Amino acid sequence: MTQRIVITGTDTGIGKTVFAAGLAGLLDGFYWKPVQSGLDGETDSEVVARLAGLPLERVLPEAYRLKSPLSPHRSAEIDGVAIKAADLTFPVLPTPLVIEGAGGLMVPLNRRTSFIDIFAEWRLPVILCARTTLGTINHTLLSIEALRTRSIPLAGIAFIGDEMADTQRTIVEMGGVPQLGRLPHLDPLTDKTLRDAMIAGFAFASCTGDH
Ligand SMILES: Nc1ncnc2c1ncn2[C@@H]1O[C@H](COP(=O)(O)OP(=O)(O)OP(=O)(O)O)[C@@H](O)[C@H]1O
Ligand SMILES: [Mg+2]
Repeated sequence: MTQRIVITGTDTGIGKTVFAAGLAGLLDGFYWKPVQSGLDGETDSEVVARLAGLPLERVLPEAYRLKSPLSPHRSAEIDGVAIKAADLTFPVLPTPLVIEGAGGLMVPLNRRTSFIDIFAEWRLPVILCARTTLGTINHTLLSIEALRTRSIPLAGIAFIGDEMADTQRTIVEMGGVPQLGRLPHLDPLTDKTLRDAMIAGFAFASCTGDH
């Protein structure tokens, strides 16, 4: 695995944070959510602190903490904040860093820039989280095409949900991307069940899970 990896997804609410927590835990790394939209309830950083089994200091502070649970461009406008690309430079750290975007790739940060533009500047490898349920082929292939158009390196797909063999195969074949693995729906979802599911579901995890 690379030292810095971006976790994105085909949509909001598909399990990026849970996967990112599992990955940061396995890599014994850091987690960073540059833009948090919505501060009621647990933030993504707080979820990761709970689920990754890492010391609290491994979760870096967000660059922007926006109050409303909306697209960051709108949430920032409501808070009277302008999100600047210059504030979204990733820190250089001695251990792996897992960075989670907000929502999907084309989520606007302001009226001109989307998260995918920031990813294109960063040039870091991206893991695309994708549901396995109906509709995912379209969303995932569109996301892959958007990444390719901007020459953003795609490490592979992390599927989230029950196994859907033909759906996963179709995405891998038509998208020309590797499947990194699959994280099933976990009940209960704890740091322990997450770690075990990451080791069972992702081949790279079995080499990194012994920390
Ligand atoms: N593998 C899983 N097992 C059980 N529950 C899950 C799993 N993945 C996600 N969830 C649950 O689904 C919900 C959405 O997941 P999550 O917050 O990880 O999505 P997200 O893609 O990070 O969303 P956002 O775009 O808001 O950052 C949460 O309640 C989370 O606990
Ligand atoms: Mg999240």
